[in-house]
Amino acid sequence: MSLSVIILAAGKGTRMKSSKPKVMHTLGGKSLLQHVIDTARQLNPCELAVVCGNGASEVVPYLQAQGINTVMQHEQHGTGHAVEQAKDFFQKSDQVLVLYGDVPMIELATLQALINEGDSTSLKVLTALLDDPTGYGRIVRDVDDKMLCITEEKDADEQTKLINEVNTGIMCITAKWLDDTLAKLDNNNAQGEYYLTDLIAMAVEQGIEINSVTSEDEMEVAGVNNRVQLAELESYYQQKRATELMMAGVTLRDPARVDIRGDMNVGQDITVDINVIFEGTNTIGDNVKIDANCIIKDAIISEGAHILPNTIIESSEIGANVSVGPFARLRPGTVLSANAKVGNFVEIKNANIGEGSKVNHLSYIGDTDMGSDVNIGAGVITCNYDGANKHRTTIGDHVFVGSDSQLVAPVTVENGATIGAGTTLRKNAPEGSLTLTKSEQRTVTGWKRPVKNKK
Ligand code: UD1
Ligand code: CA
Repeated sequence: MSLSVIILAAGKGTRMKSSKPKVMHTLGGKSLLQHVIDTARQLNPCELAVVCGNGASEVVPYLQAQGINTVMQHEQHGTGHAVEQAKDFFQKSDQVLVLYGDVPMIELATLQALINEGDSTSLKVLTALLDDPTGYGRIVRDVDDKMLCITEEKDADEQTKLINEVNTGIMCITAKWLDDTLAKLDNNNAQGEYYLTDLIAMAVEQGIEINSVTSEDEMEVAGVNNRVQLAELESYYQQKRATELMMAGVTLRDPARVDIRGDMNVGQDITVDINVIFEGTNTIGDNVKIDANCIIKDAIISEGAHILPNTIIESSEIGANVSVGPFARLRPGTVLSANAKVGNFVEIKNANIGEGSKVNHLSYIGDTDMGSDVNIGAGVITCNYDGANKHRTTIGDHVFVGSDSQLVAPVTVENGATIGAGTTLRKNAPEGSLTLTKSEQRTVTGWKRPVKNKK
């Protein structure tokens, strides 16, 4: 049984009031469309194509960059018309699964249940029971509960509008039959569109079996039409992700105040305080503690590390039992070895900090290779940029750099060297010695502090 997947994403999304195509708005840091694609791919379809129209100049390149087939629907004449545009991509398969680019939370298990429902020649519809079915197509059934047709809200009489079983839009159809039947759709309805949903009545007429699966979860099948619905889905999604983390052994001080916008690989007994945002792919080891208000993106944080409040970490590796923050910023390419310590108001970029080394206060360390057991005093700056090029600073083991020193790269501080406070180091500092550039202290006798001119 081969399966093709067609994702509809050509609609306008007027109610988003946005210059960005609706399906490109993000949920959990990922576009709505990407959520659907990622789930669809897990079905291993023989073909997958996205029908694009509105916002195609942004959506098509986005999909092509991932090697996903796109089909243009230049004018949007309805869901039936949209599927018809994708003929080339489903004709050779046995079954076609139709998904919507703006229904992002649909789950793999639900799709599998739908595909496997009934026999392979039947038409399968995913429905949902809603307290408030307003806006959706209604599932009309006979006394024996057999599906007769789907009636769109705009075409429904008062009686039909009372039905609370709705069409989610997701259907699985025999490709051959779909191909033959799409051309027979008409647009004699309130919206003047070619409705995919009219296939149901046509199947009934031809004696084709219709099966349905009903989703238990309203949010799973919810479409995004405006930013209120987007926000509702976001909190639903975040709640699910937070639950996953807790079930995996992570303590969340408040599961409603953590945001996960990407993938998490977690150990046990991690504690996360409030207002922490995780982005990209993060790997976090056992017993890591992350305090309030941190933003952590594409990081590897090893066991026992402690990230203090208001720390921002991006594309960095943090060794075991390291302490970072409060108010630290680790920029891409930072590697902190085990037991290192980075304190408040410290920025580190593209630098290796050796085991047990400390950069505790008010420093900038960029493009640097630092050995182990180094102590960097308060306010030390690596001057890595000469206005045109970046240069590296090399610091050996057991080095002590006095406060308020500048290391003008390229420069090397050899093992065991001590740099006096306030030094501007322009030449290498030799092993085991004290190097300093400040002139000796002197007192000027008879010097007077300037005074303000009296008006
Ligand atoms: C559709 C269904 C309705 C269902 C509801 C579920 C039809 C006729 N109606 O209604 O039964 O309850 O979804 O959310 O199918 N699209 C295109 N090209 C078009 C028209 C739409 O690609 O010409 C895409 C849209 O981008 C969207 C999806 O199809 O992803 C649904 O279109 P939309 O206009 O939102 O349909 P609804 O009126 O909500
Ligand atoms: Ca819709």
